[in-house]
Amino acid sequence: PARAATPPVGLGFTPVRPNSGDAVVVPEGYEQRIVLRWGDPVVPGAPEFDFDDQTAEAQERQFGYNNDFCTLLPLPDGRRLMVNNHEYTSEEFLFSGYDGENPTEEQVRIAWAAHGLSVVVVDRSDDGAPTVVLDRLNRRITLNTEFEVRGPAASSELLKTPSDPSGRRVRGTMNNCSGSVTPWGTVLSGEENVHQYFAHADRVTDPRTKRRLDRYGFMAGESERKWERFDSRWDLGREPNEANRFGWIVEIDPHDPDSTPVKHTALGRLKHETATVRVAEDGRVVAYMGDDEAFEYLYKFVSHGTMKPGGSAHARRHNMSLLEKGTLYVARFSGDSPAAEIDGSGALPADGEFDGSGEWLPLAGGAKSYVPGFTAEEVYVFTRLAADAVGATKMDRPEDVQPNPVNGRVYCALTNNSNRGTPGHAPVDETNPRIGNKHGHVLEMDDDATGTRFSWTLLLVCGDPEDSNTYFGGFDKSRVSPISCPDNLAFDRHGNLWITTDSSAALGANDGLYAVPVDGPQRGCLKQFLSVPRGAETCGPVIDDEFVLVSAQHPGEVDGADADHPVSHWPDGGDSRPRPSVVAVWR
Ligand code: FEO
Ligand code: CA
Ligand code: CA
Ligand code: CA
Repeated sequence: PARAATPPVGLGFTPVRPNSGDAVVVPEGYEQRIVLRWGDPVVPGAPEFDFDDQTAEAQERQFGYNNDFCTLLPLPDGRRLMVNNHEYTSEEFLFSGYDGENPTEEQVRIAWAAHGLSVVVVDRSDDGAPTVVLDRLNRRITLNTEFEVRGPAASSELLKTPSDPSGRRVRGTMNNCSGSVTPWGTVLSGEENVHQYFAHADRVTDPRTKRRLDRYGFMAGESERKWERFDSRWDLGREPNEANRFGWIVEIDPHDPDSTPVKHTALGRLKHETATVRVAEDGRVVAYMGDDEAFEYLYKFVSHGTMKPGGSAHARRHNMSLLEKGTLYVARFSGDSPAAEIDGSGALPADGEFDGSGEWLPLAGGAKSYVPGFTAEEVYVFTRLAADAVGATKMDRPEDVQPNPVNGRVYCALTNNSNRGTPGHAPVDETNPRIGNKHGHVLEMDDDATGTRFSWTLLLVCGDPEDSNTYFGGFDKSRVSPISCPDNLAFDRHGNLWITTDSSAALGANDGLYAVPVDGPQRGCLKQFLSVPRGAETCGPVIDDEFVLVSAQHPGEVDGADADHPVSHWPDGGDSRPRPSVVAVWR
């Protein structure tokens, strides 16, 4: 057919085939180069990486572990700032002979320094891809960096601890998953699975505190990493409020290496993938957010104030306060097909689409709570419980939620949910239509940015296109790439949607980066652009006009492997140990 003859604008590459190699595989005619690896110097004067002689002091100045989100910001001199999140540590890969029952204090301190974010200046090199410059703007943010708490829950009793009686100063950030760039040039980052770092939830006796901790998944007994042995703040039995100081959206000003980063309480506390900001017609800003866990919710925040244009220091200061005051909403979805037609198999209903309408339910605005039985402070700090109370729609793990700058619609990756529709769990609905949703789906919303109504449709129902329970925007499925577990989203300047995946093992292949047009006759024509090494997850993507950057997170992390038994030798090759890295790909 004629429509297959023209490749989608901006997507002329030959798709990469699903594979399980120990390499980054790119389309024919494309080049690749490593930009930055775990342990590489970030701050000028940092020591070179030495796996066998790593110290916390060195790690504090080197690229952290498991880089996830990646972005580039322009500098006035034509160079750029690259900002990366370091989501988590996998100690058995950081250390040879790691004894998980008896970590040393130095190992624990190395892990604190390997979390957080990195800011580095990059310059264009001869090949066109970015090269790291050891510049004075470079910075590491770790679990030791002081943050300021802002917004309506700052100074709340719920945030006060023995080391911070003000409830306004938090040491560090962690489990920073995805991120975004704000319209005023700062970076947002989501604190995601923060429950895993805390111990002894069972020693909390107050039933209300206990219920709140349970809702966020805080666990009994020692923590996996045993940090509580070296700092009592990780022991919930001793400092239960420390848990309330993580799970926020944080804002970093990467242009000022001396700035104090911020935790924004107005955006609620959940397992934040990230927040993505758009500017509404009236100048107010809207942030979309996913809570990445099975049966959790989709949120948005609408600011009270409006954005000041221009880059003056005054405008910048004003804009950096926009996320401190506004209204926080959670989404309730309705399908437009009869419930009986959503049978859990993934078969399309009679109207040919999983689609419908939805409503944003207000939770709190400034000091006002809209949820009976909750103060505004309680809504911000225990947002999940407030969202439960208003009857929000339980989703299949909402990850990135991003407005498309070309068509204005909003896209959300729902990564998977193996428990959907199984006994004892929430049933299928038109928005989450498959029982035991192994491969996830991608939602498209037409949202009145500052309003409370939207319409929606599923753009992709992921999996092997040969399976009848998949859907690719109505496109001919014989001509698309298989895809599983969509996670991060980005758009190129044509408005094509780029998707990274986390856990393509469900399809028997490595994870990858995919691109799909969302408008015109080729809507749904999904093609795989690259794949990452064995055991890695693809994150971050930067889709620049001249190159693509991706994070290959946790290469070689498969059952039974560790630093002494590596199954991946990427990126250094030979018999080297794997190192999470940023890689550039260009033609
Ligand atoms: Fe850290 Fe939602 O992935
Ligand atoms: Ca329908
Ligand atoms: Ca993610
Ligand atoms: Ca993920």
